[in-house]
Amino acid sequence: MTATATETQRPEPLVDMGELSAYAGDHRLRSAQLDGETVRVTWDDGRTAGYHPLWLRDHCPCPACRHPQTRERTFRLLDLPETLPRPEVEASARGTLIVRWPAMAEHAAHESEFDPGWLRQRAAADEDLDDSGRTQLWDAAIASNPPSVDFGEVTGSDAGLRRWLDQLSRYGLALIDNGPTEPGSIEAVVARIGWPRETNFGRYFDVVSKPNPNNAAFTAIALEPHIDLPNWQRPPDFQFLYCLENEAEGGASTLVDGFAVAESLRSEDPEAFRILSEQPVDFRFQDEEADIAYRAPVIGLDASGRPAQIRFNNWIRDTLRLPADQVGAFYRAYRQFWQRLRDPRFVFRFTLRPGQMMAFDNLRVLHGREAFDPNTGQRHLQGTYIDRDLVRSRLRVLERGG
Ligand code: OGA
Ligand code: ZN
Ligand code: ZN
Repeated sequence: MTATATETQRPEPLVDMGELSAYAGDHRLRSAQLDGETVRVTWDDGRTAGYHPLWLRDHCPCPACRHPQTRERTFRLLDLPETLPRPEVEASARGTLIVRWPAMAEHAAHESEFDPGWLRQRAAADEDLDDSGRTQLWDAAIASNPPSVDFGEVTGSDAGLRRWLDQLSRYGLALIDNGPTEPGSIEAVVARIGWPRETNFGRYFDVVSKPNPNNAAFTAIALEPHIDLPNWQRPPDFQFLYCLENEAEGGASTLVDGFAVAESLRSEDPEAFRILSEQPVDFRFQDEEADIAYRAPVIGLDASGRPAQIRFNNWIRDTLRLPADQVGAFYRAYRQFWQRLRDPRFVFRFTLRPGQMMAFDNLRVLHGREAFDPNTGQRHLQGTYIDRDLVRSRLRVLERGG
């Protein structure tokens, strides 16, 4: 059965869209009219927005067009003629938008009703759905007031969790303070969002100096600013590092906003920026069990040319495969970027306290650490990764509450 077969029935009232749109407030529509190719609506507070009629048809929420349980789209554009008849539009007495399409040839008439909150939310959806609307670049000055929320608030209250996730999406960095120091405490934070992203280091991993390390993090040496797992096609989106013990001498953490550094490179050394954003390089991790390799530029850009994915990790970078006449220019560009990543005007340097956790966007904020002396005391962090989709989803759900 196709959507057309049921279109002769009058659609049921809205499929629970009111609930989904609760965070858009309960503004009702005052008026609606078709103005050329645009359905213009005005809410009771005077705000207006325009929607294309075909867009409205495609987004009809009735049970013939959306599956009533999954709420996923069952309507198929292909079931309609390419040119739709002009609909009649009206703001209903209950403040919703009604759109009526007349019958045309073998196509039945159809009526759609749109929740005013849902429409309002969609009018601003572009920036809300994409973190780039929230992104705030930062530099070393963030040290005076780093984004952070207490452990008890993140794990115990939705308002605390929301504040923390909002910081994380704005700055690509958010700390948690005053948590317990029992091993496994990191799991309580992950459970507030979803579940960990598993990698070849496991679901959770212990960052301690180990006798037979398969990764630089499991030694006591200094770690230059880096992202984790650039050798994966899909590196982890966010990393959490939870400090249980930090008694050893040294071991301070460094964090740097890779997007801010990339923008500074773009304005001060456009040729270096061009090379690093265009030239793919190889990354590779090998141990007894694994050989994971990927090739991509150091500065990945989104469709609007904004930095979207930094892949910088000097010890996992594989053989540089470049014609000899391009090698010099590449190393010059790489050096320019690396120097900025270590520049005190960009770097946030601090020492993790036991019970403190740092969460950062692994594709934006590079992390590092200074060397420590394992003979002077214990240093023990627990780490994990988590998907961006889960972080965004939790934040959107929390923001629905208003
Ligand atoms: C890591 C890492 C930093 C640290 O585990 O990925 O970079 O402070 N650790 O030990
Ligand atoms: Zn419909
Ligand atoms: Zn790391």
